[in-house]
Amino acid sequence: MDVFEAVDSRMSCRWFLDKPVEPAIVRDLIARAARAASGGNLQPWQVYALTGAPLGELKRQVAAFIAGRDARHIDAEYPIYPAVLWEPYKGRRDYHGVQLYGALNIDRSDAAARLRQYERNLEFFNAPVALFIAIDRRLGPGQWADLGGYIHALMYLARGYGLDTCPQESWARIHEVVRPFVGMPGEQMLFCAVAIGYGDHAHPANSFRAPRAALDEFCTFMGFE
Ligand SMILES: Cc1cc2nc3c(=O)[nH]c(=O)nc-3n(C[C@H](O)[C@H](O)[C@H](O)COP(=O)(O)O)c2cc1C
Repeated sequence: MDVFEAVDSRMSCRWFLDKPVEPAIVRDLIARAARAASGGNLQPWQVYALTGAPLGELKRQVAAFIAGRDARHIDAEYPIYPAVLWEPYKGRRDYHGVQLYGALNIDRSDAAARLRQYERNLEFFNAPVALFIAIDRRLGPGQWADLGGYIHALMYLARGYGLDTCPQESWARIHEVVRPFVGMPGEQMLFCAVAIGYGDHAHPANSFRAPRAALDEFCTFMGFE
């Protein structure tokens, strides 16, 4: 697979097959992704990788933690989104919900089913491998942007192994459980998780591609004509 195909074929996978990933592949992905650029070569990413029994135990603890509450309203340690979104961002986010819940045949009015689908985030969508991506809380926006570079390097490399991924900020809300479980020191903040596995491409949750804005909506060209 070349780099163009890796970029084109990456999608946020929201259901994975019951198929384990070779541990050596996971280690290789985590190591190679660190070739990502970072300002001043700070390499600010901190990664916690889980599979097997520890992952199962974490999922059990999280299920107990969210039982009887709405996991969508638990506070992360950082504001995942502004409290109110505006255009064009609001429309894009709304359309993402229309696509996802439409693919799953979940009606807008079916609050219980929508919550249940959100909770699948906290089961890693059945993925056999989970990463938590954390950062030293004293670092700033430049280093947070570097985390995005690391995560994307990892997601594209995963395609090279035929693996699928889902970056998951929803896990930032679960820091109270994740932190002690993985032994994350107090100076680190949980940014997100990344689910890794072999995607179930017959599953309705993986049946759509999220659109992108037209080039002229986000790029100003000068001197190219
Ligand atoms: C940092 C980050 C966090 C995300 N968190 C979640 C999440 O918690 N749950 C989820 O289902 N998708 C999550 N996504 C996936 C986005 O919804 C997805 O990237 C976007 O809709 C574009 O779709 P695509 O990745 O399939 O191209 C996240 C993406 C990023 C980059």
